[in-house]
Amino acid sequence: MSFTSALRCRECKREYPLDPIYVCDFCFGPLEVVYDYEAMRQALSREKIERGPLSVWRYADLLPCEGEPVDICAGFTPLLKAGRLGEELGLRHLYLKNDCANPTWSFKDRVVTVAATKAREFGFGTLACASTGNLANSVAAHAARAGLEAIVFIPSDLERGKIVGSAIYGPTLVAVDGSYDEVNRLCSELAGKYPWAFVNVNMRPYYAEGSKTLGYEVAEQLGWRAPDHCIVPMASGSLYVKIWKGLQELAKLRLIDSVHTKMSGAQAAGCSPIVSAWEAGTPNIRPVRPHTIAKSLAIGNPADGYYALQVMAESGGFGVAVSDEEVVEGIQLLARAEGIFAETAGGVVISGLKRLVEAGRLGRDEVVVAFITGAGLKTQEAVTEALSPPLHVQPTIASFEQALGERSGVGTQRTADRAS
Ligand SMILES: Cc1ncc(COP(=O)(O)O)c(C=O)c1O
Ligand SMILES: [Zn+2]
Repeated sequence: MSFTSALRCRECKREYPLDPIYVCDFCFGPLEVVYDYEAMRQALSREKIERGPLSVWRYADLLPCEGEPVDICAGFTPLLKAGRLGEELGLRHLYLKNDCANPTWSFKDRVVTVAATKAREFGFGTLACASTGNLANSVAAHAARAGLEAIVFIPSDLERGKIVGSAIYGPTLVAVDGSYDEVNRLCSELAGKYPWAFVNVNMRPYYAEGSKTLGYEVAEQLGWRAPDHCIVPMASGSLYVKIWKGLQELAKLRLIDSVHTKMSGAQAAGCSPIVSAWEAGTPNIRPVRPHTIAKSLAIGNPADGYYALQVMAESGGFGVAVSDEEVVEGIQLLARAEGIFAETAGGVVISGLKRLVEAGRLGRDEVVVAFITGAGLKTQEAVTEALSPPLHVQPTIASFEQALGERSGVGTQRTADRAS
């Protein structure tokens, strides 16, 4: 059951019915779901949540849906203690929230399962989105599961893994010659013309709520407590803002103690409008034209940038931007230290974390959670050149030992000595 009562404008606080709408008619502010937290508090307990399914739907009472979920098991992904990476970075209590483990290998399954469920409740026949790649994968998959039509819009220069990762589910896949911001503008216009559920346009108030589940899960997995510090990748800024909201809600519902979590946000330097505004100390985001290998984060005009800056200020977190070289190094560091192959957004987070530690902005004893939001097989182009090619050998010991010796300069002799 849902405890929602209305949509409310974040700016002027006017209320609206729970319809597929997203912007205030009076002030153009974004609309957000309103909950009855008092009633929710009566109905919810840690035990009730713990008895729920191993997916985001264990938090159904905190989400804005009534109907049967469109469910491919998004969420309840592992929270791993990162001993080796922590040691490398100088952090004693580093955790990785591994959202690569979602059904379409990114955190977007969390938002889409909520949006798809709501779209079906509203009676839509078509699920749509403007995407930097991962969202399109997830919308196409959830539409397939629900038997809905899917039409997904992406910039035409995306990585192959992101394109195949949508096409496989049979959507109408539209590759637009333009940046994500242009794709998004096109979709906003189309949403006024076609009766489709654009998950991140007219369904945005509901869709965005799905990201709160990352905050809930991390707190539950830490034994019902908020971490001291989160580091989160930012594109539109929605994920970052909603993790904070999720933690705040748990405290409001007395499921955890008060929250003292510093929220840090990471971007690629080639598209860092939120971090640039934070560094300049201004609430005004200046849109940029993205130029980075972190394509999933390449949003030059971030819809929730303003609210992300508010959370950064309120929580005492930091903004950090990293170069494309650091993105690749971050992906490699994570893979080699912890066995997790992240996409470019993960490289942004790990290198961003490294920078914050080096700048003395994280304490060695803080409980830190780094959010790894998407999987690396989708962005192979980013790392391929940085990796050693395989040893290429004939199926003989001699060929193998020769190749190994050439690669390492030592292997052959030692192996030969031991064998004789
Ligand atoms: C892997 C990954 N991480 C993080 C983000 C950032 O999401 P948001 O737009 O909510 O800031 C995205 C956005 O597409 C993404 O694909
Ligand atoms: Zn308003």
